[in-house]
Amino acid sequence: MSGTIITLAQQKGGSGKTTVAAHLAVALARGGQSVAVIDVDPQGSLGQWFERREDRLGDDAIDLAFRTASGWGVRREARHLVRDHDAVVIDTPPKTDTEMRPAIEIANLVVVPLQPTPVDLWATDPTLQMIAKEGNPALLVLNRVVRRALLSGEMAAAARGLGYQVADTQIGNRVAFPASMGTGRTVMETEPRGVATEEVTALAREVGRAMRR
Ligand SMILES: Nc1ncnc2c1ncn2[C@@H]1O[C@H](COP(=O)(O)OP(=O)(O)OP(=O)(O)O)[C@@H](O)[C@H]1O
Ligand SMILES: [Mg+2]
Repeated sequence: MSGTIITLAQQKGGSGKTTVAAHLAVALARGGQSVAVIDVDPQGSLGQWFERREDRLGDDAIDLAFRTASGWGVRREARHLVRDHDAVVIDTPPKTDTEMRPAIEIANLVVVPLQPTPVDLWATDPTLQMIAKEGNPALLVLNRVVRRALLSGEMAAAARGLGYQVADTQIGNRVAFPASMGTGRTVMETEPRGVATEEVTALAREVGRAMRR
């Protein structure tokens, strides 16, 4: 039996693709799954994070497999990895069609991080249309949510009103996320009892349920 390919996609830059990709990958691995990550973004941010992670954990302790791919090469790499991993998590760059489309095409589930503003929701439309064209399920995840801001609830309702699936879990705007990433870690390792860890764990559970559908 082969695993699930999860692609992080959102043409709007800075929405949280790389942050969510790293956190989701580690959360799934900590849940006992074998996980591979693929960075198709020429910026290589996930690769930078992974290098730091390798330095910190060492060859024997490293919990994820890591590859890079470009353009259509991601389909081959993902198909190969998914044969012996439970989950393959793909991080994509903003905007570039040539990198994002193949990664969306090969996915079983596309996770779309979205900052909760009307402008961000409008800018997400082309990505959601691309996913719909491939006939793949998309899960929108509100990221960098500011507590008590009414707008987040309104944005979730607006996206659901457009017929999109929105994760019940919202990820807060928390310094813990960039701080942990800078040292090759995730919030689960730097603040295991923090709210950020609760959020990421809940998101991974939701994604796990979506994977089984
Ligand atoms: N939940 C969060 N709380 C606080 N900061 C966050 C959160 N999520 C992401 N960030 C920060 O926002 C910035 C953009 O995040 P990230 O790099 O994950 O987005 P991206 O969608 O991958 O960007 P790009 O489109 O450039 O690839 C980074 O500085 C990251 O540390
Ligand atoms: Mg990125």
